[in-house]
Amino acid sequence: MADLRETVRERYAAAALKVTGGETACCGPTETDENFGSTLYATDERDALPADAVAASLGCGNPTAVAELREGERVLDLGSGGGIDVLLSARRVGPSGKAYGLDMTDEMLALAVANAEQAGATNVEFLKGTIEAIPLPAGTIDVVISNCVINLSVDKPAVFAEMFRVLTPGGRIGVTDVVAEDHLSSAQRAERGDHVGCIAGALSFAEYRAGLLAAGFTGVEITATHPVADAMHSAIVRAVKPAGDTA
Ligand SMILES: C[S@@+](CC[C@H](N)C(=O)[O-])C[C@H]1O[C@@H](n2cnc3c(N)ncnc32)[C@H](O)[C@@H]1O
Repeated sequence: MADLRETVRERYAAAALKVTGGETACCGPTETDENFGSTLYATDERDALPADAVAASLGCGNPTAVAELREGERVLDLGSGGGIDVLLSARRVGPSGKAYGLDMTDEMLALAVANAEQAGATNVEFLKGTIEAIPLPAGTIDVVISNCVINLSVDKPAVFAEMFRVLTPGGRIGVTDVVAEDHLSSAQRAERGDHVGCIAGALSFAEYRAGLLAAGFTGVEITATHPVADAMHSAIVRAVKPAGDTA
């Protein structure tokens, strides 16, 4: 498992260096794939951001749009990459709010910090760490977002438990991720693309729902948005930490 995580880290370190070198990077089964990246954002959102933040976009959706962020909220982006969703979140929550980005890859964190400086964002902070052991205290985040990262995790129950822990009671998640149709076996998912390309590690709809429920979430909604491979989709995932839950 540690080896697979290191392979993921190396892949995204290389993607960050590509962007720093003036190229664009891509997630997905092939090097260029229109189902992933900055084309999934509205033009006015892209135009307001530094070019490198847009070029580094490796997601499969736009979680800031699905999370319906409000002024003053504290947002955490799991696997923040070049920072595109952190910067968009920071604009939505305004100066009274805060947007954190968490990533394990130094090269991505360096790119994200540079992009935040270029954007003049003051209400953002990038943290180094893993999404399986989030370096924040319990009950300190209003909204957890993530864009095409949870499928890369080697320990998804730990990710769901950590999302639940850091959220305030009544807090919510607004995630985009790759999800497989329930009939696809793990081997069939792996035939469609590799783990680092965000395909082989994808959960099915039923597995995603069960994992979130097991962590304590309620109101789980998983909605497919567009296909990314045969019987595999980008999907929006929403869920809530019950208001009375102080765990
Ligand atoms: C597919 S990219 C998505 C980046 C960003 N969310 C976006 O939409 O552009 C995956 C990112 O997650 C990070 N990542 C992958 N697994 C991680 C883990 N277990 N803990 C922390 N970061 C992780 C990688 O370093 C990379 O920056």
